[in-house]
Amino acid sequence: MPKKTPKKKRSRLTAKTADPHMLYEASVQSVDADIDFIRKRFRRLRGRAAHSLREDFCGTAKLSCAWVQKSRENVAWGIDLDGTTLDWCRRNHMVHLNSATERMQLIRGDVMETKTPPVDVLAAFNFSYFIFKSRAALRSYFRCARRALKRDGVLVLDMFGGTGAPDTHEDGTIIDDEHDPTGRKVPNFTYEWEQARYNPVTNEILCHIHFSFRDGTRISRAFTYDWRLWTVPELRELLAEAGFKESHFYTHGWNNDGDDDGTFRRKDAFENEEGWLAYIIGVK
Ligand SMILES: C[S@@+](CC[C@H](N)C(=O)[O-])C[C@H]1O[C@@H](n2cnc3c(N)ncnc32)[C@H](O)[C@@H]1O
Repeated sequence: MPKKTPKKKRSRLTAKTADPHMLYEASVQSVDADIDFIRKRFRRLRGRAAHSLREDFCGTAKLSCAWVQKSRENVAWGIDLDGTTLDWCRRNHMVHLNSATERMQLIRGDVMETKTPPVDVLAAFNFSYFIFKSRAALRSYFRCARRALKRDGVLVLDMFGGTGAPDTHEDGTIIDDEHDPTGRKVPNFTYEWEQARYNPVTNEILCHIHFSFRDGTRISRAFTYDWRLWTVPELRELLAEAGFKESHFYTHGWNNDGDDDGTFRRKDAFENEEGWLAYIIGVK
C-alpha cells in the first residue's frame, strides 16, 4: 500500500514569522531590470561591456549578487555600514552563488571612506544617497564616487519625483508572486510606503516602510529613512561640481492603464506626473 503523503503545511506569513529583509527585497527591488539598464547604457556610452561594479549602501547586496551571476568576468564590491544586513546577505544570497561568491566582496564600512579597486560602474540605489542633506555633503560623496571609478567609469543613481513626492501620504501595494532567495513562493502581503513628514523649507522628508499580513498583523516602521528630497537640476549641478563631464537623466513612460511601462529613456524634458522613478548617470 502506498504510504500516505503528509499534507504540506501551508506557509504562513505573519509579523512574527516574516523576515523584514526578504519582504523589503520583494517590495522595492528589481535588480534584473537595474542590471539590464546598467549594462545597456554602459555599452552604448563606452562601446564595451561593464564588468566591475561597486554597490554603495548595498544593504542585502542583492544587486551585487545578481551582477556576479550574470557573467564569469563580473566582479562586485558591496559596501554598507550595517554588519547585520551584510550577514543576512551572506546567509541568504551568497550561499547560493557557488563559485561566483569568489568574485564578490562585502565590505562593512562608510562609503565616504572605503577604498576599492577602480570600477566600471558605481551604483547607489533606492535613493540611499538622500541621507546627505547639504549640497556640500552630497558633492563630497559624488567626488568619492568619481574617484572610485575607472577613467571611463560611470556613476548610476536612482531617484523619485513627481507632484506627490514633496508631500505626506501613505500607499499600500499587495505584493504577490514573489519568491524568497531560496526560490520558495512568498505568500502575499502588503507593502506600505509612508511619507510621514515633509518640510518644504528644507526639502527634508521622513519615510517609513511597514508590512501588513493576511492574518491582520503588521510590522510597523520596519525601515525608516530620514532624507532630503533632491531635485533633478540639483543633482546634475552637484555631479558637474564634483567633476563629472556629463549627466544623463532617464525616466520611464506610461502604459494605457497609467502604470510605469518599465522602459527608461533619456529625457531632457517631460510632462510631470504624480510619481515617477528615474536613473541619473554621471559620466566621468
Ligand atoms: C535604503 S537602504 C538601501 C539598500 C539597497 N541599496 C537597495 O537598493 O535597496 C540604505 C542602506 O545604506 C546604509 N548606509 C547608510 N549610510 C551609509 C554610509 N555612510 N556608508 C555605507 N552604508 C550606509 C544603511 O545601513 C542601509 O543598509
